[in-house]
Amino acid sequence: MKTQYFTASSLDGFIATEDDSLDWLFPLGNLNDTSYPAFIADVGALAMGASTYEWMLRHADLVARDTGSPWPYTQPSWVFSNRSLAGLPGADIRFVRGDVRPVHEKMVRAAHGRNVWIVGGGDLAGQFHDAGLLDEILVQVCSVTLERGKPLFPRRLTRPPLTLVSVRQVGSGFAELRYAVPRAGAAAGQAQRT
Ligand SMILES: NC(=O)c1ccc[n+]([C@@H]2O[C@H](COP(=O)([O-])OP(=O)(O)OC[C@H]3O[C@@H](n4cnc5c(N)ncnc54)[C@H](OP(=O)(O)O)[C@@H]3O)[C@@H](O)[C@H]2O)c1
Repeated sequence: MKTQYFTASSLDGFIATEDDSLDWLFPLGNLNDTSYPAFIADVGALAMGASTYEWMLRHADLVARDTGSPWPYTQPSWVFSNRSLAGLPGADIRFVRGDVRPVHEKMVRAAHGRNVWIVGGGDLAGQFHDAGLLDEILVQVCSVTLERGKPLFPRRLTRPPLTLVSVRQVGSGFAELRYAVPRAGAAAGQAQRT
């Protein structure tokens, strides 16, 4: 079981424009040609922040057209927000706030040995990393630049660096990068070598 942050990002490190648009993403290729279908098949629980959830609400028609349902996930889902957000009929969504650690414990239990997906945004993935809970970052690097927007991962993560595990080209629109996040203790080993 792994806790994974899987997302698409512009080449210059943004997962959405500053006004939460993803219109730049969809023309780049078909999600079904990427590693997403195999990835989601192994996900047992997922979490997202309020902006990501509100994007889903605003685009419920589009999501329903593409997936057959306004909420495409069968997995138990957690949405982080300090506000009271509307739910979606038939969707297994729990609204939470604050420390990610107790939520992660619940997610792991609910996932029954499958992976935990941090959908985004970047700071929420950073909160799981801050708590030492993030195992992998999987990025579909898109063949566009956005200049500004919502950041991929607003953390400085240099020592130890991430470990690049695999690289895969998907057409001309995506480069899929898979990174392992070094565990605590790796930093000490790195420091001894420098
Ligand atoms: N390119 C992709 O594949 C991809 C993937 C995922 C998301 N996205 C998009 O990227 C954008 C991400 O937006 P974002 O960077 O603003 O991130 P976000 O995580 O979706 O939303 C941030 C909000 O989540 C809530 N939040 C986060 N941590 C919290 C905590 N510990 N406790 C309580 N509330 C917490 C806060 O909302 P409140 O104001 O309610 O307190 C915060 O303002 C969205 O537009 C989404 O659609 C793109």
